[in-house]
Amino acid sequence: MLRMPKPMGPSTQQMEVVCGIIIPWNYPLMMLSWKTAACLAAGNTVVIKPAQVTPLTALKFAELTLKAGIPKGVINILPGSGSLIGQRLSDHPDVRKIGFTGSTEVGKHIMKSCALSNVKKVSLELGGKSPLIIFADCDLSKAVQMAMSSVFFNKGENCIAAGRLFIEDSIHDQFLQKVVEEVSKMKIGNPLDRDTNHGPQNHQAHLQKLIEYCQRGVKEGATLVCGGNQVPLPGFFFEPTVFTDVEDHMFIAKEESFGPIMIISRFANGDVDTVLSRANATEFGLASGIFTRDISKALYVSDKLEAGTVFINTYNKTDVAAPFGGFKQSGFGKDLGEAALNEYLRVKTITVEY
Ligand SMILES: *[C@@H]1O[C@H](CO)[C@@H](O)[C@H](O)[C@H]1NC(C)=O
Ligand SMILES: *[C@@H]1O[C@H](CO)[C@@H](O)[C@H](O)[C@H]1NC(C)=O
Repeated sequence: MLRMPKPMGPSTQQMEVVCGIIIPWNYPLMMLSWKTAACLAAGNTVVIKPAQVTPLTALKFAELTLKAGIPKGVINILPGSGSLIGQRLSDHPDVRKIGFTGSTEVGKHIMKSCALSNVKKVSLELGGKSPLIIFADCDLSKAVQMAMSSVFFNKGENCIAAGRLFIEDSIHDQFLQKVVEEVSKMKIGNPLDRDTNHGPQNHQAHLQKLIEYCQRGVKEGATLVCGGNQVPLPGFFFEPTVFTDVEDHMFIAKEESFGPIMIISRFANGDVDTVLSRANATEFGLASGIFTRDISKALYVSDKLEAGTVFINTYNKTDVAAPFGGFKQSGFGKDLGEAALNEYLRVKTITVEY
């Protein structure tokens, strides 16, 4: 039997790596779980910075992990502002990796700080303006239902929200009519009430941003079909909003709203390649969707779409085994799936001449 030498204690360098995780306010628990799970499974300790406006879930989560037997010091929560805590984490010489979900603007800043401090490994899940292409040969009522949830779910505070809908000309009016009907049935109110399907926006500044976003759409000449205003209820309620006749050059066609705002454009019947190039003509590339009964067309389009995720005849279906992350300025690196582990691992090659 081969006698192994007693292992020597690891040097500080080889001990666990400290990772920083910076998460957004729209899904305070889900984003935290996705990243923390991969980080811990890969053998690291973690410092989590929750969003400044949503720190409580993370603190409760940490409390529960202690009860579950995770040793003290493995999961650490540092609530506070991005400019102080987020900055310090990104700059810190003992942190070797930052996993971030949030805006493209902040992501760029983090990447720069990670580079300048100690060349930290970094993964970024950033903004999106995900195209949803609805072809005339789809199951229309299913497409309407999924389009509704792809835009209005979680009040649009959803990184993979369908930011822009392209509807084939021959079904445009019918689609629009059905959508407006559905919007009028939405129950706006207390999100803790089970009948409610549209709650308030996360915070006041965000509500204000949505109001201005819609004003800009109107000013540029898009047709405001419904919504566009604050709802007169206590809290930051914003009306579910629908714009159509949106042209590619408009602000609302290009920039993410992160709110309950459906942006509809039409495309000429049968013109698959033009709609593809319009769908690809964005600096974002997080997700995308296609509705058609023609599977060959669906596969052709999904192959050409520049997005980290393509949903065919569905939307928002994520799975713990399916890697999730963007292309282009929607960032790089994956959450979920085996790919997520790689974000928190280092590869070492040991060569022995025997
Ligand atoms: C996206 O669409 C444009 C225009 O059709 C095309 O040139 C480009 O190749 C597409 N992207 C991919 C990855 O195919
Ligand atoms: C969207 O996906 C998330 C994450 O899996 C899930 O929590 C949510 O319920 C989904 N929303 C809809 C409308 O299906």
